[in-house]
Amino acid sequence: MNPPAIAIDGPAASGKSTVAKLIAKELGYTFINTGAMYRAVTWYTLQQGISPTDTEAVKGFLPTIPLSFGKDGSTSTVMCQGRVLNEELTTPETNQYVSTIAAIPEVRALLVEKQREYNTAEPVVMEGRDIGTVVFPNTPFKYFVTASEEVRAARRAAQGLTDSIAERDRKDSARACAPLTQAEDATLVDTSDLTIEQVVAQVVADIRAKLEANA
Ligand code: DC
Repeated sequence: MNPPAIAIDGPAASGKSTVAKLIAKELGYTFINTGAMYRAVTWYTLQQGISPTDTEAVKGFLPTIPLSFGKDGSTSTVMCQGRVLNEELTTPETNQYVSTIAAIPEVRALLVEKQREYNTAEPVVMEGRDIGTVVFPNTPFKYFVTASEEVRAARRAAQGLTDSIAERDRKDSARACAPLTQAEDATLVDTSDLTIEQVVAQVVADIRAKLEANA
């Protein structure tokens, strides 16, 4: 049996990244940002001068894509030919096309395999859109983190980012393959009126109770 996998899903700017990072820290687990993996494939596609809407071309380079997925301390990293990617992952162009790339089933299959590998040897807190539904459907630790659209837009603006999160959520929810959706057995966490500390405390208490019950 694999070590525990905590699945944190939700729409853009719901606070799930911040929450997931803090939960990982509190539990001493590795934090895995799967959005960064989809963003890296998007960035690489654009770098190659390939249109993200050209699905066949994207599928064509996937077997030889020079991206690797590792860790720096207790946080996941994405590298291209040995160089850690950072700013590349949040350029306006990457923001614009990441949902298009994330809708390609072959891209998802490749990344889901890499995501599961992180959990073979160690416990993880993994955040994304399909962690509870597809990546770890059998984990008992599933949380769907959300907030009202106004609160999410305000949080995005406070970060100095202006990408269209409503449009991205619409595309992520409408795609045929692994759409953004709450797993039936996930706990809904609405962060609109809670502080980050309150959300983290609530989720960590739930995880600890489940860990004890399963011990
Ligand atoms: O979490 P994020 O905003 O960095 O994710 C960027 C995009 O990647 C998001 O719009 C949809 C896609 N994504 C996905 O389809 N599945 C995941 N597990 C994580 C992200």
